[in-house]
Amino acid sequence: MKSVLITGASSGIGKALATHYADKGYQVFAGGRNLQRLNKLSAAYDNITPLICDVTCKESIKQASLNLPPLDIMILNAGDCEYIDDAKDFDGDLFARIITTNLISVGYCLQAWLKLIKSGGKLALTSSSAAFLPLPRAEAYGASKAGLTYLAKTLSIDLKAHNIHVSVIHPGFVDTPLTQKNTFVMPQIITAEQAARYIALGLDNNKVEINFPRYFIWIMKVIRLFPFSLWQKIALRMS
Ligand SMILES: NC(=O)c1ccc[n+]([C@@H]2O[C@H](COP(=O)([O-])OP(=O)(O)OC[C@H]3O[C@@H](n4cnc5c(N)ncnc54)[C@H](OP(=O)(O)O)[C@@H]3O)[C@@H](O)[C@H]2O)c1
Repeated sequence: MKSVLITGASSGIGKALATHYADKGYQVFAGGRNLQRLNKLSAAYDNITPLICDVTCKESIKQASLNLPPLDIMILNAGDCEYIDDAKDFDGDLFARIITTNLISVGYCLQAWLKLIKSGGKLALTSSSAAFLPLPRAEAYGASKAGLTYLAKTLSIDLKAHNIHVSVIHPGFVDTPLTQKNTFVMPQIITAEQAARYIALGLDNNKVEINFPRYFIWIMKVIRLFPFSLWQKIALRMS
């Protein structure tokens, strides 16, 4: 039986990935802090095991790691989003919270679990399309995701010799509890199940970058080719 570890599997994209891989017959280790939601998931699937841990806490990760087997796939997907509403009155605690949840935690998970990935296995990090362009109020979230993209691409070089394939995932907008808090228009938003299918297909094909939805990402990448001052003008209208 193949095995996959997914963090942030108690809701949204991670939960959709957990059920996708469970349906495919994988043994799924589903990470998160919410015991109730993870127990509900494992009650519905014999092959989903809850992995209760707070990824910002090394001790919590260590406790959760005790009975983990060698892994075919590891998807580090847990994350959160908070916006900096007043850049002048910069909230350093919010900044530290988001950088810790989205980026530092990945270092902790890699320290504990990277050695469990089999030779020929796959590692994926969930970044965001926010990593491509600086978005208004996204100082913390965008910085954490830009850092993740850099980390994933660096790992894709350094883990090649160990025969571990590394992918970085750049979703556009996905309808999950994380985005349901947003009050602005989210173009080309897709469901968590669609996102999971894009991610699984990208992993099957050993894509280094898994970008979706394609048209949305294409527009962001084209804008990135123009001088930054042009994007600054567009972004100012958005804020
Ligand atoms: N939705 C989008 O449009 C979108 C776009 C681009 C990128 N992403 C990225 O996709 C990933 C999944 O987001 P989502 O949209 O599916 O959001 P979500 O439904 O809010 O899920 C977030 C998941 O992360 C887990 N999590 C958060 N903090 C954690 C912590 N300290 N320790 C352990 N688990 C933690 C949550 O589990 P517990 O609450 O059980 O701990 C939950 O399962 C995130 O990295 C997000 O940045 C999302």
